[in-house]
Amino acid sequence: MSYTVPHGMRSAKITPRVHMMNTGNTRQTMKFFVDTADVNDIRELAATGLLDGVTTNPSLIAKSGRDFIEVISEICEIVPGPVSAEVAATEADAMITEGRKLAAIAENVAVKLPLTMDGLKACRAISDDGTSVNVTLCFSPAQALLAAKAGADYISPFVGRLDDIGQNGMHLIDDIRTIYDNYPDLGGTQILVASIRSPAHVVEAAKLGADVCTIPPSVIKQLVQHPLTDKGLEGFLKDWAKTGQSI
Ligand code: E4P
Repeated sequence: MSYTVPHGMRSAKITPRVHMMNTGNTRQTMKFFVDTADVNDIRELAATGLLDGVTTNPSLIAKSGRDFIEVISEICEIVPGPVSAEVAATEADAMITEGRKLAAIAENVAVKLPLTMDGLKACRAISDDGTSVNVTLCFSPAQALLAAKAGADYISPFVGRLDDIGQNGMHLIDDIRTIYDNYPDLGGTQILVASIRSPAHVVEAAKLGADVCTIPPSVIKQLVQHPLTDKGLEGFLKDWAKTGQSI
């Protein structure tokens, strides 16, 4: 079975991949993670039923002003999906030690490792433990290929930071999708689009068949908004009031 990506950014046929968590043989709907360590935002979004997971990074932990282990543990209780927690070490053995400590916090911790040679080495070891790994700070298709070969469950390409330096971050998503679909034996590494700045990034990611978007809370809220929805609802409510009825 195969299908073609409809908007013409890529002409090649794509064979749907079977992800680790898939139950059928087709790609799952794109998942929504929130990119924050703010538990109030996470609780609010989790209540919508739209949240599939959480990503954090050292900068977001610093912004929260909270103890790392404590906040990750709290987030893991709020959201059943994967919660990425990033190591701070830069040498493989120390990364593995830290990663195992983070994995012990809760079953749904995904250990986040930077895309360096040491990070890839640690990725293989932690992945072989049976722990989910998210390889972060990916800025090239070659890096994404290496992460998949190292057994990563998730690869995090940073689209916004590429846009910031005058490149097109979405081209990277397109390239990774093509490469991963060429080689289903890579193991189903999921493309987790990171460094998202706007709803347009989310829409483009979905068109390209990305597996996950990790989105700041403010951008998740923007996704639902449209002025014509507000205007239309206002008109309907006004007319409904004129009927004098209630449901
Ligand atoms: C991803 O996991 C990172 O936490 C995040 O998306 C980085 O985004 P930024 O470029 O806005 O810092």
